Amino acid sequence: HRLPLAGLALVALGLSSCAGVQSALDPAGHEARQVATLFWVMTIGAGVVWCLVLGVAVYATRLRPEPHGDAVGWRLILWGGVVFPTVTLTALLVYGLGLMPQLREPGEGLRIDVSGEQFWWRITYRPAEGPLVVSANEIRLPVGERVEFALTSPDVIHAFWIPSLGGKVDMIPGRENRLVLKAETAGVYRGACTEFCGASHALMAFDVVAMEKAEFAAWLAAQSTPPPEPDGEAKRGRDLFLRHGCGACHRVSGTEASGEIGPDLTRFGARATLGAATLPNTPDAIARFVREVDVLKPRAKMPAYPKLPADELSAIAVYLGSLK
Ligand code: CUA
Repeated sequence: HRLPLAGLALVALGLSSCAGVQSALDPAGHEARQVATLFWVMTIGAGVVWCLVLGVAVYATRLRPEPHGDAVGWRLILWGGVVFPTVTLTALLVYGLGLMPQLREPGEGLRIDVSGEQFWWRITYRPAEGPLVVSANEIRLPVGERVEFALTSPDVIHAFWIPSLGGKVDMIPGRENRLVLKAETAGVYRGACTEFCGASHALMAFDVVAMEKAEFAAWLAAQSTPPPEPDGEAKRGRDLFLRHGCGACHRVSGTEASGEIGPDLTRFGARATLGAATLPNTPDAIARFVREVDVLKPRAKMPAYPKLPADELSAIAVYLGSLK
C-alpha cells in the first residue's frame, strides 16, 4: 500500500511545480484559464477512459467461450469501440471549438504591436487616444481589459506566449497575427519565444506586468514625456553613450540617440531585466552585457565592446539605469 501513496506524492510534487510566473497551469488571465480548464478536462477524462478500458480488458479475459457465437464480445465492440468513442470525441470537439472563437474576438481599445526580432521584443503601445509609446522586452497591461496584440517579425519566425495569460501565436515575417488577452490578476508574469529562431532563442523572453487600470493609464501617460535630464555620473554616462555611437541603434527620447535597429532605451531603467529577460537590470549586469554581449547572447546583432574602459562602462550603466 506504500506504492500508490508514493505515486500520489510524486504527482502532487509535480503539480506543485506548475505554479509560478510562467505556468499555463497557474492561469492569471481569461484565455489561459480556458486552456488550463481544457487541459484538466482532457487529462482527467483520459484517466477515466484509461481505467474503463483496463476494466473492460480484464473483464474480457474472464469471459468463457459461448456455445452460440460471442454476443458479449460484439456488444463490447459496438458500445465500447464505436458508440463510446464517437460520443466522447464529438463532445470534446464541440467543447474545444467553442473555446476557439473567444480567443479571436476584437479588443477593447488598447492595441499593442509586438515584433519578435533576433533576439528581443519590440513593443509599441497604440492607445485609443494619445500618442504611440515605444518600448522593448517588457509589456504592461491593464487588468480586466481585453487587449489586442498585433504580432509580427522582420526576420525569422518567432512565437509569442505568456503561459499565465494565454497565447501562443506565431510571429511571421510579412504577416500580422492577432491575439486578444485579458489579464484577471495584477502581477508580474513571464513570456517567452516558443519557436526556434536561432542561436539565442532560449534567451528571448520578456516580462509582463499586469497593472490596475488607473495605475496603467497613469504609467502610459507618463511614457510620452522624455526621461529627466541626467546629472553627475549619469550625465557623463550619457555623453559617453552618445560619443561611442550607441544612438545609431538605440533610441532615447529627448536625446540625439534615435536608432531604430535595437531596443528603445527611453525608459530602460524602469525595466526589471535586460537583454530580453536574460539578466537582472543592475549596473554590473549592464556593464557586463555591453562588454561581452557576444558571450551572453550569441548571434545578437549588437557588437560586444570588450575594449571600453571599466569606468566608462560603469558610467554608461549608471546613465542607462537612470532612464526611468
Ligand atoms: Cu525568437 Cu525563438
